[in-house]
Amino acid sequence: MIEMHDVWKNYPNGSVALQGVSVRIDKGEFVYVVGPSGAGKSTFIKLMYREERPTKGSIFVNGFNIERLKERKIPLMRRQIGVVFQDFKLLPNITVYENVAFALEVIEAPKRKIKARVPEVLELVGLTEKANAFPNQLSGGQQQRVSIARALINSPAVIIADEPTGNLDPETSWEIMDLFEEINRRGTTIVMATHNKEIVNTMKRRVIAIEGGQIVRDQKRGVYGYEN
Ligand SMILES: Nc1ncnc2c1ncn2[C@@H]1O[C@H](COP(=O)(O)OP(=O)(O)OP(=O)(O)O)[C@@H](O)[C@H]1O
Ligand SMILES: [Mg+2]
Repeated sequence: MIEMHDVWKNYPNGSVALQGVSVRIDKGEFVYVVGPSGAGKSTFIKLMYREERPTKGSIFVNGFNIERLKERKIPLMRRQIGVVFQDFKLLPNITVYENVAFALEVIEAPKRKIKARVPEVLELVGLTEKANAFPNQLSGGQQQRVSIARALINSPAVIIADEPTGNLDPETSWEIMDLFEEINRRGTTIVMATHNKEIVNTMKRRVIAIEGGQIVRDQKRGVYGYEN
């Protein structure tokens, strides 16, 4: 599903974000990526959907050779990878429904398909009632649900999330985690960078710890392992 072989990432300013990372994540896994601030977690995640490109090494995600991919194939690849961010990244001037539909409209999906699929994902994330609301009329947790619905719209094989609960209170964070668990139960692979110690320690999922740009720990039923 996801494979990295000896991946290095140096940013143009000289900072070395990843140093020789190799990893394999199988279909259906749920993986937490942990580590101190500046360790390289976001870089690790950005490389998976080619937001950043490696300085060296190879990356395969869902059958795509991410590094060698032709520019024109990037949209096709991104459709098969759902991405969720800490700050939601919703479009403020359109409704919840339209935010979710947008990803289908840009690929010129048939209207019929959009009409069927949007309510389906809104229901899955528990936001049927909020379809006509605007993002600023929603709580943080609800906004994150919209962004998860948007990530799910093309039924991606994998969802990659960078601190999706970073802006949420503990109770809301748990609700969002339950949603990710449900999505994973339905077969979607999930890779999530997080600083949420309690969630990682409770869920007992695979934990990959990154420090100084290297994988320093990879546990099957892991723990957070840091004090914050
Ligand atoms: N666009 C960039 N340009 C230059 N350096 C960068 C860039 N993005 C990240 N870095 C550097 O690369 C290293 C890894 O950063 P990264 O954002 O991957 O860490 P992180 O583990 O996600 O940290 P945090 O927990 O704070 O989000 C850091 O030293 C950071 O300063
Ligand atoms: Mg980060």
